[in-house]
Amino acid sequence: MKKELLVIGPMHAATLAVLDQTYATHKLWLAPDRDAFLASLAGRIDAVATSGKHGMDDATLAKLPKLRMISHFGVGVDSIDVDAVKRRGILLANTPDVLTDYVADIAIGLLLAVVRKIPAGDRYVREGRWLEGAMPLTDSVQGKTLGIVGLGRIGRAIARRAEAFNVKIAYQGPRRKNDAAWPYFADPVGLARECDFLVAACPGGEETRGLVSRAVLEALGPEGVVVNISRGSVIDEPAMVELLKAGKLGGAGLDVFEHEPRVPEELLAMGNVVLQPHVGSATHPTRRAMGQLVIDNLAAYFAGQPLKTPYV
Ligand code: 8YV
Repeated sequence: MKKELLVIGPMHAATLAVLDQTYATHKLWLAPDRDAFLASLAGRIDAVATSGKHGMDDATLAKLPKLRMISHFGVGVDSIDVDAVKRRGILLANTPDVLTDYVADIAIGLLLAVVRKIPAGDRYVREGRWLEGAMPLTDSVQGKTLGIVGLGRIGRAIARRAEAFNVKIAYQGPRRKNDAAWPYFADPVGLARECDFLVAACPGGEETRGLVSRAVLEALGPEGVVVNISRGSVIDEPAMVELLKAGKLGGAGLDVFEHEPRVPEELLAMGNVVLQPHVGSATHPTRRAMGQLVIDNLAAYFAGQPLKTPYV
């Protein structure tokens, strides 16, 4: 007899196929009546698979009194009510490490794309404007300073890459890291004042909401570039749009947005902004590795073993 598994929303197809083979899966997003569906499973379901967009809220947890384990496809757990998960004594696993380098790649790609105007250069060639003369010169990252908001695994991977581009590093976070020699700022405004570029690499959620505030963006200034590969909520998005429009912020490279997949209309028309549809981890190998962790964590739970990558 296959064990039962509730899957909250659609996820990486190859991962879901393995879950379908291994478990008797119940797919919440396909249920015409969500509450009735949950009620019909409430007495049996002890494990759930979910992912970034779908997460898990306390109202759903309350409808699953037997739930003991959540296997989450994604490193960020901001769509999960982690306090409620802890309070209810439920295990939670996420998918760290396997996506670190890929997200850091996109951060550096966005920084270079904004500063060296790579998308504009591409358009310049395609539109035949090169035939009429050279493209205007651009700025450079050489010798500049990148401020990293959140020096976790992804922040450090960004730092390593940036140093290879002769970029100096400084960072901000809740505490100084003993094993990081780069200048530390407790205050993100202080960090922004000292930096040419700023990248948000901290977790999302309430604790970091608006951390990259209007004051931070103003301190970054008219030549400054902000990059976000974390969560849209980390930046005061309306202030960012306003400052970009007014020329008080130099540029932005954005993979995430507050109300994604909706993107503020004004950004679409700006030449100093490069936009990506939340693709930091969106490569075949990354998503395969994330999916394998989702599978392995569920297998560990059902085998009564410690989770491979426990979050709580
Ligand atoms: C995914 C992410 O887009 O891991 C994260 O926190 O933001 C991305 O890898 C998403 O979580 C996939 O569900």
